[in-house]
Amino acid sequence: MSAADPQPIVTFPEALSTREGWLEPFPWYDRMRRESPVRYDDDREVWDVFSYDGVKSVLSDDDAFSVDPMNLPEERTTEMEESPMTETMLFTDPPDHRRLRAVAESEFRPNAVADLEPAIRRITQERVEEAVSEGEFDFVADLAYPVPVIVIAELLGVPPEDRDRFKSWSDTLVARPDEETREAFRRLQREQEQALEELQEYFVEMIERRRTDPRDDLITTVVHDEGAALTERELLGFCMLLLVAGNITTTNLLSNAMRCLEGRPEPIGRIAEDGTARSRTIEEVLRYRSPVQAFFRVAKAEADLGGQTVTPGEGIVAWIGSANRDPATFDEPEEFDPTRSPNQHVAFGHGTHYCLGAPLARLEASVVLSELFDRIDGFEIVDEELQPVRSSFIYGVESLPIAVE
Ligand code: HEM
Repeated sequence: MSAADPQPIVTFPEALSTREGWLEPFPWYDRMRRESPVRYDDDREVWDVFSYDGVKSVLSDDDAFSVDPMNLPEERTTEMEESPMTETMLFTDPPDHRRLRAVAESEFRPNAVADLEPAIRRITQERVEEAVSEGEFDFVADLAYPVPVIVIAELLGVPPEDRDRFKSWSDTLVARPDEETREAFRRLQREQEQALEELQEYFVEMIERRRTDPRDDLITTVVHDEGAALTERELLGFCMLLLVAGNITTTNLLSNAMRCLEGRPEPIGRIAEDGTARSRTIEEVLRYRSPVQAFFRVAKAEADLGGQTVTPGEGIVAWIGSANRDPATFDEPEEFDPTRSPNQHVAFGHGTHYCLGAPLARLEASVVLSELFDRIDGFEIVDEELQPVRSSFIYGVESLPIAVE
């Protein structure tokens, strides 16, 4: 498990392992939904679920399916034990899940998140101004990536003077090797281990300081929640989870939105002034190019999955990106329709583990897109060779150079 890819290692399906395959996995999903909506893949030794109903039931049946990778057979979990991320709500089943999630729930409700809007707008405006004045810029590096990182830093309570350090750790954790060589890969791996260690030390110190010197920030709230009584490791895991789960996902929601909107002046025109049009567009991006394409579960009990029997300890990949294109649920699913309503996508999951940060992600997307399209009339993607994000479940592109009008 790496910091940027916090799910257990499940090898990637062969069909998606090329650049083209992972940039556009949708034709493969379509074939799988028709030929084998639930199947056991002998090569990867996991179950794959592709249908909307199947994905929804896997994500929400906590009795049969666990999020805790420690339920996997021992030989598949060796790398995971060291990370504090495994002790977070994302990888904990009920009933303990409730204690870990409740500490932050009220801070992430839509009305609490709405208070962050002025800060998000300020952070966005600074970045948009600078980027747009250049005429051509990398939408990922200059906007989609820094905005969520700075927002989460402010929310947690990282003081302004530490923000550059914080962002540089975060940059290293999501970086790609600068060349495709084994040496470059090892170098980056060492840098990432070091960044992870420093970031963890930083959070440990911050947690300690907030114990004696409470502030008006999320770390203080969580540290002083006596009902939950999080351990040191759980507190550290919580901070790391927000950083990892909240950033790469939102970055890719934003860049996926730009891929959906290129060459479509109509929705772009409406985004700047019409809040309903803007939120429908964002929901459709979430459905059409879901930032999280897949999530993992482990069978706890013998269970029926689309007429087949799953046995305890077996892994299951719920293909969210495929569920969101299922024609049994969505009319013309392969069409990007920014006016689609209702839109019952499962991009934020379903059930107990439904994304805690969904209101924040929606607000960030709304602010960034409205600020950008308030200043520009249109844009063009200027890179022909987009590279998919190197992850087995996050969907987006590494960089997105655009020219703005
Ligand atoms: C577009 C952006 C985002 C997408 C697509 C997304 C997607 C998801 C999905 C699919 C899950 C469910 C995983 C499962 O069922 O096991 C999830 C859970 C979670 N997300 Fe997000 N997420 C996004 C943004 C955020 C943000 C901004 C934050 C926080 C700052 C966040 C924090 C979390 C947390 C803490 C969980 C675990 C909830 C639990 O286990 O109870 N996410 N997210």
